[in-house]
Amino acid sequence: MTDELLNHPGALIGDVRPTASYTLRVNGVDRPVTDAWIGESLLYVLRERLGLAGAKDGCEQGECGACTVQVDGQLVNGCLVPAALAADSEIGTVEGLSGAGGASDVQQALADSGAVQCGYCTPGLAMAVHDLLQRNHRPGEVEARQALCGNLCRCTGYRGALAAVQAVADAREAALEAELTAAERAAAAGPAAEPAPRAAAEPPHPDQGGELPLYADSELWHEADQLIPAQPQGETPRTGGYAYPPTPPHGTPVPADWQHAPAAADPFGTAPAEPAPAGPDPFGTAYQDAGAYDDTVYATDGYGTQYPGYDATPAHGIRLPEDENA
Ligand code: FES
Ligand code: FES
Repeated sequence: MTDELLNHPGALIGDVRPTASYTLRVNGVDRPVTDAWIGESLLYVLRERLGLAGAKDGCEQGECGACTVQVDGQLVNGCLVPAALAADSEIGTVEGLSGAGGASDVQQALADSGAVQCGYCTPGLAMAVHDLLQRNHRPGEVEARQALCGNLCRCTGYRGALAAVQAVADAREAALEAELTAAERAAAAGPAAEPAPRAAAEPPHPDQGGELPLYADSELWHEADQLIPAQPQGETPRTGGYAYPPTPPHGTPVPADWQHAPAAADPFGTAPAEPAPAGPDPFGTAYQDAGAYDDTVYATDGYGTQYPGYDATPAHGIRLPEDENA
């Protein structure tokens, strides 16, 4: 027998060691295994082929429980299960307990209760406690001892592990009660108010790097702003009795004499298209001419209201002529 054969045990029996390729679903993730001897244990494949070293190799004969994992929800010794037979099963390992990366409540309770010294038995113990509390939310001490009897600890003993079972059961029960209480309070308070719709965020101004909006009939808005000045305060024509030409689109050049241009040529509709009607205005809303407000109406009528036949509104307390004739 040569050294080469001794260092390559598979060569001793040649093709009589059958291999297989399969996929293990571990902690919800598919992990392919390629050309693996079908006699390899699940513990071996997890640790040596898939790099999941949480399960420990203690006795390799189902005595110590350090290799404990779940296969389809059943607690098993990984050292006793051929990996190829678990190909269609859901496998749970200690790495899957701490989903968010931190310790699970079971792992934390084992540490808090002093159940960890060398730690070699701890992954198997954690899986056993996890499995027990999945099946029984409030185990008694005997039930807990029965559940943990397959996990041997050479350093610490089992009081810490039993205390951890109790602590996790208490904490989960308290959390559930708090959740139920909150749900009952929410139900008693009635349906929650609809949240107010959030206002759409204002787009950033072009000066702050926002995009330039386009109008349907115009160039960019800021160019139109430069071309069309704001109308002078106090000279905005009042509506009522006057026809105005349509406002030209943005971008129309402003005539130099836009304030005094004739109505037809006034692109902004700032001048009346026809003169105001002559005669007294019972409501004080008409201009006397096309150019300005009729100040004389307001001079003779302090309240802007003229009555036919009267020069001005009489002061409070003075009776109207109709009253005198009455
Ligand atoms: Fe599996 Fe000990 S290594 S029971
Ligand atoms: Fe060392 Fe359990 S802590 S074997």
